[in-house]
Amino acid sequence: MMPPAVVPDAAWLQNPRQAAACRRRLLAWYGEHKRDLPWRRSDDPYAVWLSEVMLQQTRVATARSYYERFLQRFPTIFDLAVAAEGEVLKAWEGLGYYSRAQNLQRAARVVVADHDGKLPDTYAGLLALPGIGPYTAAAISSIVFDRPHPALDGNVMRVLCRLLRLEGDPRRTPARVQMIRAGEALMPKTGTGDLNQALIELGARVCLPTRPRCAECPVTNWCRARAELDDPSVLPMRPRRKERPHLQVTAGIIRRAGKLLIAQRPPGGMLAGLWEFPGGKQEPEESLAECLRREIMEELGIIIDVEEEIACVDHEFTHLSITLHAFAARYRSGRTRAIACSAFEWIDVGRLHDYAIPRADHLVLEALTAGGASLHDFINRE
Ligand code: ADE
Repeated sequence: MMPPAVVPDAAWLQNPRQAAACRRRLLAWYGEHKRDLPWRRSDDPYAVWLSEVMLQQTRVATARSYYERFLQRFPTIFDLAVAAEGEVLKAWEGLGYYSRAQNLQRAARVVVADHDGKLPDTYAGLLALPGIGPYTAAAISSIVFDRPHPALDGNVMRVLCRLLRLEGDPRRTPARVQMIRAGEALMPKTGTGDLNQALIELGARVCLPTRPRCAECPVTNWCRARAELDDPSVLPMRPRRKERPHLQVTAGIIRRAGKLLIAQRPPGGMLAGLWEFPGGKQEPEESLAECLRREIMEELGIIIDVEEEIACVDHEFTHLSITLHAFAARYRSGRTRAIACSAFEWIDVGRLHDYAIPRADHLVLEALTAGGASLHDFINRE
């Protein structure tokens, strides 16, 4: 069936012939244009699951190299289940949103303990696992088990909001229900994972956020936004972003007899489980040096001498941004204790790369060693 010359009406997807024609177009386009991505060559549920978790907040190009390295390090769900959390975080280092890795491992342990190491093959079974939400459950259950669940990630929501001209917030129920219905209407009897990935691919490569390439779109003739709006890119509606707080944060590169102090962040919060140069948020009326001395006393129970500022880096998280001021510092007195951190270690600098550390701390290290300077010499200075 040829695509219609004009978009039929708001309910076109209820017409099975139109839905079938649109589906054929999408799948044919996907067959021709899909990128050759490593997870698309795998039918291992564990590998597909890993890819979907990585891709949630990470670009394809970045996820790709992490994906391959992660699978080399933890080739099966059993390897992941028995690994130390620190090793898993180390393999995830730099990808951000570290709770994804922690949940992945928690879920792997549940699957090994309760399901003989086999990932549940239903949407509901997957949804019951830690860290697996509706998107991931739909993606895995369709790609690996051929279940007919629409996977609504940001790309797919954009495509469907435009196709259907949905003007509500796509994350809220009324629009969501319509998108799920549309996804279901488009589902083939078999190959549901291809349909979901075709929508993902279309969103990533053609139906772009600000400059959609409508001329290249295989389903442009079904697109209500294209037919009825001057600028289809006004959809989906973008809820106003709240202003993100900006914090001034200090960190100490604290040395003592040739060793460097690192602290592990407590569970539950941001960057939980990662190791960092200890420090914390500046309070009102406090200098940066006072802030660092206070934080180190509160967190680790020791007194330090704060020296010069050695790096100042800006970093953005989802809900806040920081300027991190890193200071050289020297241990003066007190017994080191893990008071407001999970653990601490005085390490030889050569061992730093065994620990997963946040990106901002990596930037500090880069600043510190720029121009060939050595961290070892820095820690061993007077
Ligand atoms: N983003 C989320 N899932 C994806 C997939 N399977 N392929 C490419 N990009 C994706």
